[in-house]
Amino acid sequence: MNPYFPSSAAKPPRYAQPVGSILDAIGWTPLVPLRRVSAGIRTPVFGKAEFMNPGGSVKDRIGPAIIDAAEAEGRLHPGGTVVEGTSGNTGVGLALAAAIRGYRCIFTIPDKMTQEKVRLLKAYGAEVIVTPSAVPPDHPDNYVMMAKRIAEETPNAILANQFYNPANPAAHYASTGPELWEQTEGRITHFISAAGTGGTLTGVGRYLKERNPQIRIVGGDPVGSIIRRYAETGVKGESTPYKVEGIGQDKIPGTLDMDVVDEWRSVDDRSAFALARRLTREEGLFVGGSTGLIAHVALQIAREVDDPQACVVFLMCDTGERYLSKVFNEEWLRENQLIDPARILVSDMIRDKDGGAPEGLISVAPETPVRRALAFVTENNVSQLPVLTGGDCVGHVSEATLMARVIEDTTVLDRSVQELMDAPLPVIDSHVDLSAVTRLLTRRNPAVLVRHDGQLGAILTRHDVLRYLTGALEGGVTDTLPGYLPHRSVRW
Ligand SMILES: Cc1ncc(COP(=O)(O)O)c(C=O)c1O
Repeated sequence: MNPYFPSSAAKPPRYAQPVGSILDAIGWTPLVPLRRVSAGIRTPVFGKAEFMNPGGSVKDRIGPAIIDAAEAEGRLHPGGTVVEGTSGNTGVGLALAAAIRGYRCIFTIPDKMTQEKVRLLKAYGAEVIVTPSAVPPDHPDNYVMMAKRIAEETPNAILANQFYNPANPAAHYASTGPELWEQTEGRITHFISAAGTGGTLTGVGRYLKERNPQIRIVGGDPVGSIIRRYAETGVKGESTPYKVEGIGQDKIPGTLDMDVVDEWRSVDDRSAFALARRLTREEGLFVGGSTGLIAHVALQIAREVDDPQACVVFLMCDTGERYLSKVFNEEWLRENQLIDPARILVSDMIRDKDGGAPEGLISVAPETPVRRALAFVTENNVSQLPVLTGGDCVGHVSEATLMARVIEDTTVLDRSVQELMDAPLPVIDSHVDLSAVTRLLTRRNPAVLVRHDGQLGAILTRHDVLRYLTGALEGGVTDTLPGYLPHRSVRW
């Protein structure tokens, strides 16, 4: 029995019989409750898993719908070509339908989109032209303008025209909206998505408001997009660059009905990507950055509503696989100052330090002669050596102190490290966050030992932490890091 909707009768499995084609597997995506990232929030929050569509995104719904409409209107004929400017996902939806119906596809895609998306479109057999992102919307090299030109110049071709095609919102009015209504047994109180073309918000919003005008439709908008400001003030303004893909705009799309959306909220790249990664790690929901942005708004709203009877639903637009080289690539995140340092885990730092290949902990036994310990320090290029016995740290020696003692008195070389060692190093678990390490690194403790799966497995020195922080924070200081930001003020 479903604990959220106890009255729901058991339904027959959807795929009890073969489907006519893969297009029949589009839609009826599951509604999944959040459990861990919503901890402490009383309002139930559900995500609609559009990444489970066969092409991996919400845009699978509009591809066949656009082709159906063009065929029905007599604009698309056998052997014809479908042209579109796409940030990737609409291309996949169109390519899926085109593959089955026998059409050729040509897509233009802005160069800010991931390589994965370009390769994916090519894998479906499409011809792909990558266009510059940094051009104004009316520039001939803009991806939408270029698609328009190609469609005009290619015989027997149509422009899918997702930004103005009424078949786009109509697909969501006919499928996504009714699914949400049925899956929540009419109990949905808030729907949160974002606007690329606005097709999803418009189609779903229209349908849900017809069923119950009290349902609030909320749009997440990337910081840098012009949509929120336009909705609130009527001023179009200029967009500024942001990294989240597929949503937000530098112009207002014809398929976005502003009247359907009750409220817009802006979210920055960093918050969007951090939540996309948490949804994946903590909920098993492998989603892209735009879903992180939308989920961020959904959690804000659920917290404010604070009502166990409410039902907040957000859209999980596409699969995280499309963003492995960005949202799920720590190097890229760090280069772009997109990691929230408050969420850096010790395990992340260890991975970074060891380049993914942990060498284990370099240590000495208490009876090791100082001469050997110093040779060990040089061979391994380390500054601190923990002294271990039976898997426990009983003290530590540092290169600097050993050298100072030997210079004072060379007979020290033949004594054992236990006669000279300093206090044991503090031990932390690998799943704690960076702030726990910085608190422990004092003049007396130049390093901390990291326990993983019950065993001491690594060491983090002041130098390691500083190197990580300067990499992670280069160029930007945020106000989100209690206690150890800005890093100039870190006290060692
Ligand atoms: C990657 C991506 N594609 C598409 C959409 C939906 O866009 P549209 O407004 O075009 O329906 C979203 C989010 O809503 C998205 O994140």
